[in-house]
Amino acid sequence: MAPLRVGLIGAGGIAGAHARGYRQLAEEGLVRVTAVCDPVAEHARRRAQELSALHTCAAYGDLLALEVDAVDICLPHDLHAEVALAAFAAGKHVLVEKPVATTLEDAKRMVAAARSASVVFQVGHNERFDPQYQEMKRLLDKDAIGEVVVARADHNQNVRLPDGHWLYSTARSGGGALIGSGIHRVDLLHWFLGEVAEVYSVQRTLAGRFEGEAAALTTLRFRSGAMATLSTNWAVRRSPWYELMWLYGTHGSMHNVGGLHLDSERQRECDGGFVHVPLQQADSFTEEIRHFLECVDMGRQPLTSGEEGLCALAVCLASYRSAKLEQPVVVEM
Ligand SMILES: NC(=O)c1ccc[n+]([C@@H]2O[C@H](COP(=O)([O-])OP(=O)(O)OC[C@H]3O[C@@H](n4cnc5c(N)ncnc54)[C@H](O)[C@@H]3O)[C@@H](O)[C@H]2O)c1
Repeated sequence: MAPLRVGLIGAGGIAGAHARGYRQLAEEGLVRVTAVCDPVAEHARRRAQELSALHTCAAYGDLLALEVDAVDICLPHDLHAEVALAAFAAGKHVLVEKPVATTLEDAKRMVAAARSASVVFQVGHNERFDPQYQEMKRLLDKDAIGEVVVARADHNQNVRLPDGHWLYSTARSGGGALIGSGIHRVDLLHWFLGEVAEVYSVQRTLAGRFEGEAAALTTLRFRSGAMATLSTNWAVRRSPWYELMWLYGTHGSMHNVGGLHLDSERQRECDGGFVHVPLQQADSFTEEIRHFLECVDMGRQPLTSGEEGLCALAVCLASYRSAKLEQPVVVEM
């Protein structure tokens, strides 16, 4: 296949991780980032240089007018819907960073617009492409631990950004730590355990940090009967990033503390308890972009489609309603 021509819209922090993927996949002859858009000229120039892109521009409309097949949207949350809708109208395939949008109405409009334009629409839930979570999913699918009864997930991060950063504003981010980072684990739990029926969330803000919640404790009840707790904390001193996932099933357990570990009464090697599961190394951002390119090439629905992004967003928004009402809330889509 000819390399897909991609326009990168938003050349800030996470665009650096995407650029790493594009450089690798360009070497494999699969893709070419031909244009970079960012109103901060220095951001656009730096990423364009890293990617040997031909064009830079400040307005996304100018990028959409160029000959690009697809766009990768790495923008503040409040711009995802506006820019994706313009891209669909221009007939471009779209990879948009998580969360898909900040409201369900916008997310639904995006899903419908992608469908009517017959283009691929993928949301950047990159953790589904992380080898440890892919292996957890594979083990679940082969029934290694039986029916999951309880799951526990944690996301801890020390988030410190320059004054005035868009992520401090609830109007721009759609919330705080949960929609910003906890959504990764919401998406994984949804992938592993199916549809979330109900949530109960308690949250707290911290003076001088974010307008939205700095921390959230959320209980999720799944249609399958499984239950999960998710702790999301953006105010952890020192720890730059620390996440964990425990899955407790009727016939075994899995966790990823210090690597992936499995205890399964169905596997003889676990007779003495948890065993370490070796994993292949892979960069989740590179693999999510590879998946996007394959979906465009084959005309396939991505693993992390717009619809899947909508499900994760719906759980986060229900959690916000729950925290406000101080009661459990049914997840509506
Ligand atoms: N997958 C992950 O693990 C992960 C990690 C961090 C961030 N993200 C997501 O990536 C997205 C971007 O976050 P970030 O940390 O890179 O933010 P950032 O603030 O570092 O970068 C955003 C960039 O967008 C540019 N921008 C603003 N308005 C624009 C416009 N109208 N047109 C073009 N460019 C514009 C800004 O100048 C900036 O360079 C968010 O959705 C965020 O949640 C994902």
